[in-house]
Amino acid sequence: MSRSAHPAGPRHADVLPEGHYTAPAEDLNALDPKVWARTVGRDADGVVTVGGIPVTQLAEEYGTPAYLLDEADFRERARAWRTAFGDDADVFYAGKAFLSRAVVRWLDEEGLNLDVCSGGELATALSAGMPAERIAFHGNNKSPEEIERAVRAGVGRIVLDSFQEIVRVAHIAQSLGKRQRVQIRITVGVEAHTHEFIATAHEDQKFGIPLAGGQAAEAVRRALKLDGLEVIGIHSHIGSQIFDMSGFEVAAHRVVGLLKDIRDEHGVELPEIDLGGGLGIAYTSDDDPREPHEIAKALTEIVTRECEAARLATPRISVEPGRAIVGPTAFTLYEVGTVKPLEGLRTYVSVDGGMSDNIRTALYDAEYSVALASRTSDAEPMLVRVVGKHCESGDIVVKDAFLPEDLAPGDLIAVPATGAYCRSMASNYNHALRPPVVAVRDGAARVVVRRETEEDLLRLDVG
Ligand code: LLP
Repeated sequence: MSRSAHPAGPRHADVLPEGHYTAPAEDLNALDPKVWARTVGRDADGVVTVGGIPVTQLAEEYGTPAYLLDEADFRERARAWRTAFGDDADVFYAGKAFLSRAVVRWLDEEGLNLDVCSGGELATALSAGMPAERIAFHGNNKSPEEIERAVRAGVGRIVLDSFQEIVRVAHIAQSLGKRQRVQIRITVGVEAHTHEFIATAHEDQKFGIPLAGGQAAEAVRRALKLDGLEVIGIHSHIGSQIFDMSGFEVAAHRVVGLLKDIRDEHGVELPEIDLGGGLGIAYTSDDDPREPHEIAKALTEIVTRECEAARLATPRISVEPGRAIVGPTAFTLYEVGTVKPLEGLRTYVSVDGGMSDNIRTALYDAEYSVALASRTSDAEPMLVRVVGKHCESGDIVVKDAFLPEDLAPGDLIAVPATGAYCRSMASNYNHALRPPVVAVRDGAARVVVRRETEEDLLRLDVG
């Protein structure tokens, strides 16, 4: 059982009581391929390497903390999703997990589409040359300016999230002499997380239009009447860090039910269904994620079966994985500053980053693992808590983990599976400078997002 708490909050987590940490791994120097990027290993000196480059060299060149992103791994995972879904489906990478212009180019080259959820993400995508027709624009409160920009750019779809937005997008599109392709995001009454899905209290959230009470059907009714819109399908996103496919099964059943009602009422079969993202990754060795081809097979079978039962032509499926592509491809490299043993409790290891570069532990009670990266060690395992340098006791990066007892200031340690929602949620708390993202591939490293500087901070402070 995973001990991970959940993005939706501790209410949804299967967290063991405080103090129930797992036993140390048999070999603290081993790097479990489940949680580390694919080209990560150790060289003859025991130093962790990525893309063939030792982290000691990367630390020297780029400093710490730093997010080290394995480009080959990113491309392979993106390609695996693309191949698994084939030509009859579309994969939209969810840019909120991590977006930079380099990533946009990789996605473009690997044949993926892109889901953006803000004007900033849209600007990044367009500036890196992602063809607009391969962009989906999300958000529960897109501003009129954002909508206009998206329509003008010619984005492939806007995902409508409210009754107001249906009218707003239609009006803007029409005033620009365009007909915007749209999907309508609905809430199907399923909220799925990790190992369970909950079928109550799910509609009590800000996203989408509830299926319940005929609201989604009414939204479709209104959208179909508006000249500025071309309704291409229904969208459903049920949660995050999901391992169990049963939540998708219920969601697909309900979305297909709506498609059937639409056909019966309006005589139109909407051609697309988007099942969102949310597929889980391994943060620790306890997690067992599925491979893209298993997910594609399961989702395609579910939708096909539901459509056959409803006597509908199977719509084109799209999915929006973010974490499942970028999450495992990066790790954060930190330098140890202090090692503080607290008698009878644990040892606090302070690193040169913290909640400003990984807020997930503090925010979601998330689980991470950690490894000594600048060398190996045969010392006994000690129970540690890896903490940052912020003025806050909740500034925890790794809650409970084991590192060798001879850990000392100056050692480099690495926290794997930080590719998703770490840099993208990074902050300047305590005026921390957000770390760089360094992409490594085939023995070459390059900065794709540079480290912030004090000048960057002071530029915004206009005095
Ligand atoms: N599509 C939609 C409509 C979404 O809302 C999301 C995530 C995704 C796709 C991508 O989900 P993924 O495959 O990356 O799980 N900050 C939280 C996660 C928030 C996810 C929000 N929506 C975290 O750090 O866990």
